[in-house]
Amino acid sequence: MLELRAVAADIAGAPVLRGVSMHLPPGGLVALIGRNGAGKTTTLRAIMGLLPLRGGQVLLGGEEVTGVPAHHRARLGVGYAPEERRLFGPFSVRQNLLLPAEVLRLPAAETARRLEAVFTFLPELATLADRRAAGLSGGQGKMVALGRALIVGTRAVLLDEPFQGLAPALAQRYADALRGLHAAFPRVALLVTESNPQLLEPLVDTTYVIERGEILTADAATAA
Ligand SMILES: Nc1ncnc2c1ncn2[C@@H]1O[C@H](COP(=O)(O)OP(=O)(O)O)[C@@H](O)[C@H]1O
Ligand SMILES: [Mg+2]
Repeated sequence: MLELRAVAADIAGAPVLRGVSMHLPPGGLVALIGRNGAGKTTTLRAIMGLLPLRGGQVLLGGEEVTGVPAHHRARLGVGYAPEERRLFGPFSVRQNLLLPAEVLRLPAAETARRLEAVFTFLPELATLADRRAAGLSGGQGKMVALGRALIVGTRAVLLDEPFQGLAPALAQRYADALRGLHAAFPRVALLVTESNPQLLEPLVDTTYVIERGEILTADAATAA
């Protein structure tokens, strides 16, 4: 569904990604693990088209999207939950969930169907739907960011360190929600970054380890 071929990128003249190759099959749940500064966020931004590449290719559904602008990649069905959640405080949870789909002018019927599915599998969001985003806790905000990425991400969803800053009980709830959503959207490829491999290992089928902008290993775990 999503493929990176030898992606290279520089930030401020310094190489940050040095030939990153990854493959996310349809319905795959893939982890990208690496220390702070390893290049996880930059890899996701490269997939979204948010930074220029020095080399390599990004393919979506077998088609090259390397030169395709970011908003158009999102419209092709790639959802992205950045590390900072970027919710609109004065808007309700429901409005926050729907906003990217409206900005991208996605078909309203499909968006409504996906909102229903998100409410079914993240019932806490249905409960919070009419609350202002500004009043949410950190954990609730992460759930909204996850739901929002799923509404746009009909083909792939990228989650940047979603467990960071969550208390253990909330992290467990978030992991359960991911598992449920993965079952509910069986064709969507999920890519999740994390600095701590232990959190994701029980969930994922493939783990990539990134260090200083290079993929060290790609371990396909036996499916649990
Ligand atoms: N805004 C920036 N200015 C300069 N260097 C940056 C910037 N953002 C990232 N980098 C460099 O890119 C490297 C990878 O960053 P990043 O992809 O954010 O890592 P991660 O998400 O794994 O913590 C960092 O080590 C840093 O040197
Ligand atoms: Mg990061």
